[in-house]
Amino acid sequence: MAMAQRKPFSRPPFCALLISLLFLYAPMRAVSGSRHGSGEGSGHGDTAFRLRTYIVHVQQPVDVAAFSGPEEREAWYRSFLPLDLAAEGGGIGEPRWVHSYHEVLSGFAARLTEEEVAAMKKKEGFLHAYPDVVLPLATTHTPEFLGLHVGSGLWAGGGQGKGIIVGMIDSGYTSGYPSFNDEGMPPPPSRWKGSCPNPIYCNKKVIGARTFIAGDDTPTDEIGHGTHTASTVAGSFVRDANLLGNANGTASGVAPRAHLAIYKVCKKGCDTSNVVAAMDAAVADGVDVLSISIGGWSTPFFSDGIAIAAFGATKKGVFVSCSAGNDGPGKETVVNDAPWILTVGASTIDRSIVSAVKLGDGSKYEGESAFQPSNFTHDLLPLVFPGNQSFFCPTDFMEGADVKGKVVVCDIGGLTPTVTKGANVLQAGGAAMILVNGELEGNTTEAVVHVLPASHVTFADGSKIKAYIKL
Ligand SMILES: *[C@@H]1O[C@H](CO)[C@@H](O)[C@H](O)[C@H]1NC(C)=O
Ligand SMILES: *[C@@H]1O[C@H](CO)[C@@H](O)[C@H](O)[C@H]1NC(C)=O
Ligand SMILES: *[C@@H]1O[C@H](CO)[C@@H](O)[C@H](O)[C@H]1NC(C)=O
Ligand SMILES: *[C@@H]1O[C@H](CO)[C@@H](O)[C@H](O)[C@H]1NC(C)=O
Repeated sequence: MAMAQRKPFSRPPFCALLISLLFLYAPMRAVSGSRHGSGEGSGHGDTAFRLRTYIVHVQQPVDVAAFSGPEEREAWYRSFLPLDLAAEGGGIGEPRWVHSYHEVLSGFAARLTEEEVAAMKKKEGFLHAYPDVVLPLATTHTPEFLGLHVGSGLWAGGGQGKGIIVGMIDSGYTSGYPSFNDEGMPPPPSRWKGSCPNPIYCNKKVIGARTFIAGDDTPTDEIGHGTHTASTVAGSFVRDANLLGNANGTASGVAPRAHLAIYKVCKKGCDTSNVVAAMDAAVADGVDVLSISIGGWSTPFFSDGIAIAAFGATKKGVFVSCSAGNDGPGKETVVNDAPWILTVGASTIDRSIVSAVKLGDGSKYEGESAFQPSNFTHDLLPLVFPGNQSFFCPTDFMEGADVKGKVVVCDIGGLTPTVTKGANVLQAGGAAMILVNGELEGNTTEAVVHVLPASHVTFADGSKIKAYIKL
């Protein structure tokens, strides 16, 4: 017999709190060109099926005048394309052309076949070409944990990022969120040259908001990641911020007085060609800092679009900060590892939203959950572990499972996401869930918005709970 009992979260002493969430995305090694692989370029037989987006680096022309304006630049870039393409409909055609780059590198992105790229390599001025890749998103930070307090240290006087413009290269943002209120913000610095095609997306906090995804017409965040990173970097102070009543306090970004410029480049994944285009635009717009929580795996710098564009940005005085990734504890999981980038590692913080588990023998384990309904019983409930070695509480397990009114132990992992495990338990009539880490996850627990009373416990605690069940 056992009881999963709610223990209220004890409020930390300081006012500057940030609800910091970790978003984990499985790397997707897809090639962006393949998504466009059908139905176009009919004049070229199966060409359309072999098109990939390539990022192409070229030298600047010897004749500098030929590089003076956007049109001259584009003419130079297009001169690297095969002649028969130039003949096609009087030019390469928009579906083939993706972006021109100028600020952070000289070159362009276009949809090409391998043969076309091979031919291009023979032309004078060609430097390097590599296929575009779709990168996954990453994150995290928290001001209080970093020792940032209003009126002292880095946040004293003119601190808090006042007068700084941070370019966020991410999935856009959700306008209207309290973190993006512009109370007390001055107008953008005069050096700001960026734009806000639709003014409803901007104010004095968010001074620019554009999308770089073809066919997309708003900077609206469709997955939440960009909203999270933008508010983490420079969100305004928001009082009484809480997660289902937990962790109540004043939320803010690390630089709450900085301006934000939003460059949307990701939906589910992020095409490197779009990331580089956004970095190019941000440098031209006059950002001081580029913040990029995107990256999949470490690649040689000569074919790492973010590293190359960051080098160009750095040469122009822009500080580039990138996520190191959310992976580990295996070796070689750090990404964005070029030495001219500030590579920021994800970490844990000294706060947990505790949801305690108390067993029938009186032993108690402190797990985590953000969903803690106040009406959950404090009575002891039966405890079950349906598996022998491990059990992932998959969607189909419930048929015939006797869990009604019981606390069900589920292992983290398998193919079932954690919140879904809880939903499966709830649907089968279970009263609560204890989510147990594997050896790999160890002590890393997360306060997630579950759909039933739950507690995410460490590997060591989970092993003890399982041993108790088997007694
Ligand atoms: C959060 O804290 C504020 C100030 O202490 C209080 O007024 C508010 O009711 C609290 N909100 C929740 C959900 O606990
Ligand atoms: C607790 O309250 C919620 C919402 O009012 C309700 O749906 C749920 O059934 C209640 N649970 C118990 C155990 O009473
Ligand atoms: C325990 O799990 C293993 C592998 O998952 C399975 O082969 C075995 O039949 C299970 N044993 C019992 C008693 O359920
Ligand atoms: C996990 O937590 C336990 C108990 O607090 C501690 O003894 C152990 O060193 C921790 N392990 C790691 C890898 O931090």
